[in-house]
Amino acid sequence: MNHEDDASMDIIREAFLYQNRFAGQTVVFKIDFPVTETAGFPYLMKDIALLIKTGIKVVIVPGSLEYINRVLEEHNIASVFLDGERITTDEAMQYVEMSSFHAATRFITALSASRVDALVGNFVRARGHGVVNGLDYENTGVVDKIFVKSITRVLAANMTPILPCIAWSPAGKPYNVSSNGIALAVCEALNAVKLVVVSTDCTFNAADIAAPDSVEKNEAGKILRLNTEEAQLVLNMNKDNESLLHVKTCAALNLALAALKTGVERVHIVDGNKEGVILRELFSNIGAGTMINAGEYDAIRSIHNSDIPDILRLMEPLMKKGILLRRTAEDIQQKKDDFSVFVIDSVIHACAALHDYGEGQAEIAALAADPAYSHMGAGRRLVRYLIDKAAKLGFNRVFVLTTSTQDWFEKLGFTEAGVDSLPALKKQRYDRKRNSKIFALEITK
Ligand SMILES: CC(C)(COP(=O)(O)OP(=O)(O)OC[C@H]1O[C@@H](n2cnc3c(N)ncnc32)[C@H](O)[C@@H]1OP(=O)(O)O)[C@@H](O)C(=O)NCCC(=O)NCCS
Repeated sequence: MNHEDDASMDIIREAFLYQNRFAGQTVVFKIDFPVTETAGFPYLMKDIALLIKTGIKVVIVPGSLEYINRVLEEHNIASVFLDGERITTDEAMQYVEMSSFHAATRFITALSASRVDALVGNFVRARGHGVVNGLDYENTGVVDKIFVKSITRVLAANMTPILPCIAWSPAGKPYNVSSNGIALAVCEALNAVKLVVVSTDCTFNAADIAAPDSVEKNEAGKILRLNTEEAQLVLNMNKDNESLLHVKTCAALNLALAALKTGVERVHIVDGNKEGVILRELFSNIGAGTMINAGEYDAIRSIHNSDIPDILRLMEPLMKKGILLRRTAEDIQQKKDDFSVFVIDSVIHACAALHDYGEGQAEIAALAADPAYSHMGAGRRLVRYLIDKAAKLGFNRVFVLTTSTQDWFEKLGFTEAGVDSLPALKKQRYDRKRNSKIFALEITK
């Protein structure tokens, strides 16, 4: 099997892992209206249909803001907002009702193409927003209750509930309710595992929005992941920029942070213009959008016996090329306590070992990072972790033997050293034919 086959097998494994993890769980999609007007909308909905067919419970909350604005403008009615909330006058209300159902129908139409049954329904109870600081919000309401039993019944019948931005009071009066409010309430009421925000107007390219240097980006400079503190920092750094891109991105981040507070594990903000974005974001560790997560996403940990096949799979291409010395499963098992792995969502993406050679020196060895995840800091974090571990264990110096990674270690503060600097046991084992370079780092205490 060649390396490309390995890579596609990894993708398939990852997809199965995620499918298994999310089957039976609820994922809420908040999809902005402009997405329904993109050429890729039918494909996006096909991918959502695929998720539904694999057993994920999908709830769709269409965002109708842009369409309502457009229809009101066509009827010469001004859109008035206060604190981001529309003031829905009696005159506007008939058009708001019509527009929100029209937007919802687009999802029914698209899902019909994949033979997924869907239902636009009255799943939300509302109450009036009322008069705030003397200003009457008229027909604008807020979510009062999500009818969980009704939605659960619909999902149990393998149908997809669609929640337009109209909700009704107990007396049957319709109110215009924000789709963000509905998305949040439905995430909380249904214990959704994820909220996916699909938009065409957000950007997470570091070239477009201000972000702390520490956030994780891909090679193209796209921010892949933010924890809650980082998301808050990005918000603070961009809140005064009034461009549409910044306003929309901040709105999506605010929605994400609010959703995490309701108990959702992760929010994914994806670009509705990109084909396949949903499947890539949900079914691969790298994703295609930006994930905002509350809990731990990646971690470095020691290894179990069951990790050994995965570690060997990471090391195999490097052993084949002669970059790493060949090790068997037994070799790794014997030195099990020396090994650490970098995992994303419980999948191993890098490994390395710290071997004690006495004389206060330890070797960092068997370092291998998944090439599909290069540039994400996995190798660097693992080496820093091992340097920390060495310091805690009382070592004075760590060293590596390398044939092709000297520049990388230099960037981490290692400097070239001679064979004579190695501890006696390692000096004895040093293979002069292999002629590896030795790089070392003194541990400051
Ligand atoms: C070296 C290695 C661990 C880096 O893993 P990684 O997770 O991609 O590393 P990071 O994300 O922390 O760093 C990526 C950076 O290192 C650079 N880099 C990767 N391999 C490099 C090498 N051999 N020499 C110099 N720089 C290298 C990348 O270009 C990238 O640079 P950038 O951040 O400026 O874009 C990985 O490439 C690997 O497994 N190499 C083969 C194994 C090996 O040589 N082991 C050492 C002997 S024990």
